[in-house]
Amino acid sequence: SDSSVNVTVTGAAGQIGYALLFRIASGQLLGANTRVKLRLLEIPQAVRAAEGTALELEDGAFPLLAGVDVFDDPKTAFSGANVALLVGARPRTKGMERGDLLEANGGIFKPQGEAINAGAAEDIRVLVVGNPANTNALIAQRHAPDVPAERFTAMTRLDHNRAVAQLARRLGVPVAEISKMTIWGNHSASQYPDVFHAEVSGKNAAEAVNDQQWLADEFIPRVAKRGAEIIEVRGASSAASAASAAIDHVYDWVNGTPEGDWTSAAIVSDGSYGVPAGLISSFPVVSRGGRWEIVQGLEIDEFSRARIDASVAELEEERAAVERLGLI
Ligand code: NAI
Repeated sequence: SDSSVNVTVTGAAGQIGYALLFRIASGQLLGANTRVKLRLLEIPQAVRAAEGTALELEDGAFPLLAGVDVFDDPKTAFSGANVALLVGARPRTKGMERGDLLEANGGIFKPQGEAINAGAAEDIRVLVVGNPANTNALIAQRHAPDVPAERFTAMTRLDHNRAVAQLARRLGVPVAEISKMTIWGNHSASQYPDVFHAEVSGKNAAEAVNDQQWLADEFIPRVAKRGAEIIEVRGASSAASAASAAIDHVYDWVNGTPEGDWTSAAIVSDGSYGVPAGLISSFPVVSRGGRWEIVQGLEIDEFSRARIDASVAELEEERAAVERLGLI
């Protein structure tokens, strides 16, 4: 049949875009039976570069790729979108205060939210990758009142994958032996990677590590500051790993998380675990029937509580700042 799914990718000419688009075209975003039409959004200065990437996508002769179009206008780019990957964002430049950064990104995510509201498909699912991801997602969501709020998510899957890899390395086991990892809060240095409910080969991971000092002084900061480490070593920020995490997030959202495991995603809080309702915060989540659900009933000890609260407080400050700026 001619049915295909419309996937809109913003920041398509950027470094994450370059890694992401070929993974999508090869069928890894949605599964090997789903044909995809790519709709690339860039700013006018970068449209030509995105067109170059579109030529390369054509050269890949991907059987599942039903077409590629490039746009510089959000209204057209999001028209009919079933999946939207919001990667393009305004980076922090020298001398920029947090307020300036939030304001510059508000100028991007407000019109994109409006465009999604106006023209996206009924089943639209949005993943925000561009930083500050949680608050950018909140801005877009607030400007799309006709779209169910739960369809707006932000990416903490890269943090999740980093935490899984670091724990597996410490325990000397393959990553596939690690399950039930959790990232709580904001995709920022305040995030809390929580191993207290994680399992290694079905046994409690914190007990297997049995080294609270390593968890507090090495594991948590290593995961939270891994982005800076990549910049330091690679000379450029994480790109292919971020693209890979975006693929994982959407694939699991659409196809479901494996039985007996969960993952991490920043989704609109319903008040679970004391996270104020409406904030877009990272939780342990499963996906069932195409919807994220927060894993309930986990016991949160004092150590974890303090770290979750600190990251959530940062999200509340960001929300207050964008309210003050009139962005939501
Ligand atoms: P990049 O600078 O290589 O590419 C960004 C692209 O976005 C540029 O081509 C730019 O022209 C485009 N862009 C800017 N404004 C736009 C707009 N209004 N509409 C459409 N396109 C627009 O950056 P890179 O490395 O690809 O990273 C993209 C974003 O992802 C950054 O904000 C980065 O901080 C974030 N990121 C998030 C991660 C996460 O775990 N959530 C991990 C790694 C990066």
